[in-house]
Amino acid sequence: DKELTIAIDGWTACGKSTLAKALAKELNYVFVDSGAMYRGATLHAMRKNLVSRNHVDINRIIASLPEIKIAFKNNAKGKAELYLNGENVEKEIRSIEVSNSVSSVAKIKEVRLFLVKQQRIMGINGGVVMDGRDIGSIVFPLAELKLFMTADPDIRAQRRFDELTSKGEKVTLEEVKENLKLRDEMDSTREESPLTQVEDAIVLDNSNLTPKEQLTKVLELVKKVR
Ligand code: C5P
Repeated sequence: DKELTIAIDGWTACGKSTLAKALAKELNYVFVDSGAMYRGATLHAMRKNLVSRNHVDINRIIASLPEIKIAFKNNAKGKAELYLNGENVEKEIRSIEVSNSVSSVAKIKEVRLFLVKQQRIMGINGGVVMDGRDIGSIVFPLAELKLFMTADPDIRAQRRFDELTSKGEKVTLEEVKENLKLRDEMDSTREESPLTQVEDAIVLDNSNLTPKEQLTKVLELVKKVR
């Protein structure tokens, strides 16, 4: 079988990574969570006090990009975790603080160029499932399979809230709801590669689908294209 490039885009907290991970495992492909890379770049900027909720030092963020080395490494359980300059930052990048600043960093053109370049290298040989906001539109416009995921906003907020609290994050449902709304708004209206549903993407609304049902559906689609 041909090694495909599979692009999964969509709204925040729609289960893109969950599906991408399961799909990659099933097909024995590489899984790349591109959002983790934007989160890593954001954490670096936050540690240098270059970004907070109401301030973004664009010039200094751009100037500090060469300091950033991002890599994924599998942990003992085989789960990919993000490393920032050799440090495992998987837990930190999922915090509400990073979530509240990431869209302000991700809208910077130079940040995107810096990360897109690395994402393209990760998928250069095909056999990759990458999830994000601009994968089907910008990173891999020639991907054989493109999905656009959506789900009811309240269901998304509840799922993300459950995920965060189960990891011990102290957040309220309102805070999570607000964060998702704000990111969707910023990510879809920014000038640089905004979140859009490309023409050749297949829409997947998973409001009422279990992860297993989603995987089954997408494996059907994979069969058709390969
Ligand atoms: O996927 P996740 O929600 O972890 O992504 C975090 C943020 O990173 C998004 O809200 C968006 O601002 C940015 N992002 C992006 N392009 C991607 C992936 C993520 O701009 N391909």
